[in-house]
Amino acid sequence: MKVCVYPGSFDPITYGHLDIIERASKIFDKLIVAVVCNPNKTSAFTLEERVELIKECTKDFNNIEVDSFCGLLIDYLRQKEATVVVKGLRVIADFEYEFQMALLNKNLDPDIETVFMMTNNKYSYISSSMVKEIARFGANIDEFVPIIIKQKVLGKLTAGKE
Ligand code: COA
Repeated sequence: MKVCVYPGSFDPITYGHLDIIERASKIFDKLIVAVVCNPNKTSAFTLEERVELIKECTKDFNNIEVDSFCGLLIDYLRQKEATVVVKGLRVIADFEYEFQMALLNKNLDPDIETVFMMTNNKYSYISSSMVKEIARFGANIDEFVPIIIKQKVLGKLTAGKE
């Protein structure tokens, strides 16, 4: 069985991520969407909240597991007996960073392959931070996130004002 891991912060998940999830789920037998606790980033949603939101958004897929981990991606892959990582590439600027990460992971474990998928051009310019930022200033984010995510993002913003 070919198991693939799609790692990320997903703070929160957007249609851009969901596009990658949908396409990757058709290629691999099982896709594990793994929320990573990244000490370099301050998150709006807790790890548990992000996992729950991804589960909600992917409940109609039958070969997807949603999980979280702290630590090195390659250790997580070994634990899950997965050898493939999938990442989305949005713009040229992503390439350098992703190339570096793919090479580093390959160096740490030569059995690991990173597969890149071009992000749907409808979402190539968005990121989780940008979605949160435009929502904070009152812009409509319907185009970028499912309704449940929109409600949670707006809920966080309201909570921040209390
Ligand atoms: N559509 C829309 N947005 C996308 C996207 C897509 N297809 N793909 C990525 N993005 C956005 C993300 O939302 C994120 O936005 P943000 O910076 O506003 O949060 C941004 O692009 C960067 O995404 P990504 O490059 O996937 O970074 P990340 O922080 O989500 O994930 C990890 C990086 C967690 C995968 C990486 O740090 C990791 O593997 N960490 C584990 C520790 C480790 O092993 N380190 C050594 C690896 S070399």
